[in-house]
Amino acid sequence: MDKFVIEGGKPLKGEIRVSGSKNATLPILAATLLTDEPCEIKNVPKLRDTTTMLKLLKSLGKNVEVSKDRILISSNGTLNHVADYNLVSTMRGSFCVLGPLLAKLGKAKVSMPGGCIIGVRPVDLHMKGLLALGTKTTMEAGYVNAVAPKLKGAHVYLGGVFGSSVLATANVMMAAVLAHGQTVIESAACEPEIEDLGNFLSQMGAKIEGHGTPRITINGVRRLEGVSYRMSPDRIEAGTFILMAAATRSNITIRDVHLNQLSALVDKLNQVGVKVEKVRDGIHVKPGRNLKPVSMTTYPHPGFPTDLQAQYAALMSIVPGVSVITDKVFPDRFMHIPELNRMGAQIRREGGVAIIEGVKQLVGAPVMASDLRASAALVIAGLAAKGRTDIHRIYHLERGYEDLDKKLIGLGAKVWREKE
Ligand code: UD1
Repeated sequence: MDKFVIEGGKPLKGEIRVSGSKNATLPILAATLLTDEPCEIKNVPKLRDTTTMLKLLKSLGKNVEVSKDRILISSNGTLNHVADYNLVSTMRGSFCVLGPLLAKLGKAKVSMPGGCIIGVRPVDLHMKGLLALGTKTTMEAGYVNAVAPKLKGAHVYLGGVFGSSVLATANVMMAAVLAHGQTVIESAACEPEIEDLGNFLSQMGAKIEGHGTPRITINGVRRLEGVSYRMSPDRIEAGTFILMAAATRSNITIRDVHLNQLSALVDKLNQVGVKVEKVRDGIHVKPGRNLKPVSMTTYPHPGFPTDLQAQYAALMSIVPGVSVITDKVFPDRFMHIPELNRMGAQIRREGGVAIIEGVKQLVGAPVMASDLRASAALVIAGLAAKGRTDIHRIYHLERGYEDLDKKLIGLGAKVWREKE
């Protein structure tokens, strides 16, 4: 296994291009199960999670051809309805094969999902939605066994204790597109990844309206067609680079960003004293001299994304003054705190809140990556810190950031991999 070594304390410069969106790609790859015709997907990021999803599609009976700039998924005979524990347990995104398998085969047996250890991650909303469409489910040795000889459209309310659910919305959308009649999803997730999925399904011939809003209406069709689709850029990768520039007080340009998907982050950073300006085919990040501490709470989209919370905490840890961070989406998502504190940060957790007393500078240290976005926070801290930081267990980073070391080297950072 590799570790990441960073010699920090140097500003970054230059420009990078953002890769395709991981979280949009995973449900879209699952949606290819809904058709027997070939689908071509472009701008798919080369990541551990997308590779796992392609392995899962193969295990379910699809043909997968990967070339330099596109992935072709085609039929290879009958689909298999069992999604294996070894593939589904490594990432939560794979659980969204459940909806398409049910819609296509009338049955599915999918292992309970895994993914980042960022708190309890139930699947009750997925089940609630699929149940409303006429699915019968039982639990069997860690697998969800679901049967739905004929899915029927229904009115489904998908709001949960922590708001809407991205992947539950995706699962119900993918089941509803081939169901008989109309489905209305209320309190649907509004994340851009759901908009992408809706656009993909529409191109396949689905009758779907309102994706990207809290109310999605779907009129079931009999069959869907193959399509060619280009993935949108990854808003979380873009946001991570913006926060990296802010923490290292660097001027950088980021290409291929949809800035309107990052309004909550940009608004917060304006208050902090970091300018994020639109330029041709991208954005320019320009931190001011004296940054101010600003408290932040995460919410479902269009609120501040939970997937940027750890990286924002890394920035606030080196902005003198006090800021308070609350995560309303995953209230226990604070595994980065002890690791940042090893580098000299002063953060304490009180229940669901992190209280940060910003210090002048962090000092490099050996740290452990605990989950995907916490790892990105440690990279930000390492780049800003004085001295050497060794980040262990970087396979978490490889799940969600394509060529991160190469991109950072392109920005002038001193970063390299070493064998553990
Ligand atoms: C997706 C993203 C993840 C992101 C999260 C929130 C992918 C592959 N992952 O995960 O990166 O952090 O959205 O933006 O796209 N919940 C329930 N019951 C359910 C489902 C969820 O209570 O059945 C809760 C969760 O525990 C959490 C909240 O709802 O507190 C939001 O989770 P959800 O939107 O479902 O996250 P994911 O879709 O799994």
